[in-house]
Amino acid sequence: MSQAAHSPTAPRAGEPEHVPSMRPVPPRLAAVRRDRIAVVGYGYWGSKHVRVLSSTPGVDVTIVDGVPGRLAEAAAQFPSARLAACLDDVLDSVDAVVIATPPATHVSLALLALEAGRHVLVEKPLATSVEDAELLVEAAARRRACLMVGHTFEYNAAVWKLRDLVRSGELGKILYVDTARLSLGRYQSDVNVIWDLAPHDISIVSFVLDEMPAGATVWAHSHISRQHADVAHLRFDFPRSGTRAYVHVSWLTPKKVRQVTVVGEHRMAVYDDMSDNERIRVYDIGVDVQEMDGPEAAHALPVTYRTGDIVSPYVAFEEPLLVQDQHFVECIRTGAVPRTPGERGLDVVRVLAATDESIAAEHADVGEQRDDRTRATRVAS
Ligand SMILES: NC(=O)c1ccc[n+]([C@@H]2O[C@H](COP(=O)([O-])OP(=O)(O)OC[C@H]3O[C@@H](n4cnc5c(N)ncnc54)[C@H](O)[C@@H]3O)[C@@H](O)[C@H]2O)c1
Repeated sequence: MSQAAHSPTAPRAGEPEHVPSMRPVPPRLAAVRRDRIAVVGYGYWGSKHVRVLSSTPGVDVTIVDGVPGRLAEAAAQFPSARLAACLDDVLDSVDAVVIATPPATHVSLALLALEAGRHVLVEKPLATSVEDAELLVEAAARRRACLMVGHTFEYNAAVWKLRDLVRSGELGKILYVDTARLSLGRYQSDVNVIWDLAPHDISIVSFVLDEMPAGATVWAHSHISRQHADVAHLRFDFPRSGTRAYVHVSWLTPKKVRQVTVVGEHRMAVYDDMSDNERIRVYDIGVDVQEMDGPEAAHALPVTYRTGDIVSPYVAFEEPLLVQDQHFVECIRTGAVPRTPGERGLDVVRVLAATDESIAAEHADVGEQRDDRTRATRVAS
């Protein structure tokens, strides 16, 4: 694990850490004040931010989108929201900004807001390069502004449950983690499928294991266009726990799958985000190595199988985006450090950058030939 990595372990809602330099607002004042938040980007995800923030008491929402048709849709859905075509036009009259635009635009929009002293929540991935992510973290520190990254799954009760299962030792030593995030996805023009989808898996697995990966190995391929890979298999190595995570992300799969499997020596747990009422299942099953003597050993598999109950623990559902955005509002009101600060976003961007290096290194090895196999790359700290 990189020593510089921000610990993924963070207090849950109601357990804020305080930044001494950001003065807390007394609770009475916090209750009466109104926070003016601009949501930049009224697309697929930004419209959800607008919905949850509009339902948050004490928040006035301004919707910013450069496309007039999107603003017209926003006006129809949220008649009381203020509208603007450009963040610059409304920066003077808001306290905070949520950036839900395509990843390549995050750094310029977030820097604009941070340099104006505004608190900023940036959607995942925080930026599209380590240098840009570092710029944002540095600007937030200099302007003493709150910088938070939208790692939505770290606000998801099912992911908290998975982490509790790992921490309690109930699963035993973690042998490996496997994740699948597949569907006929929305092809992005500015990033490949890894930068689009794997931030979720890197965030979930590092949160659950409480460790950032130190190395990445990637197989990625572009099946539809030559621009960006649309299917990728990744392997991340976690040296402290001696565990590996295998991550499969795809924009080109017929069935939607959102699954995380944690395989422990004693038990195995599956988090299925597509399930309505059994999002976590704990399987009391496993495989033990068997000592075998005698002539049958030459043919038999030297393992025995354990099978037992399958239990689905109760996980109270609260929309993770609502939990996340309410946490952001709480941070800007109280001066608390977010549970997913800019540094956490930077850590994930470092891992994503290592996947790029892994792909580039293999392409360099094979010259002009594009090869699908790639080799391991260390995550820079
Ligand atoms: N946390 C999650 O679970 C989750 C899920 C989906 C998307 N996302 C993230 O949300 C972000 C947006 O994704 P999306 O799928 O909603 O994209 P989208 O293409 O549907 O919407 C982006 C919107 O931003 C607008 N826009 C672009 N540049 C702008 C600018 N400079 N100023 C104002 N408006 C601008 C576009 O007109 C568009 O309406 C991405 O970073 C994506 O990774 C996060």
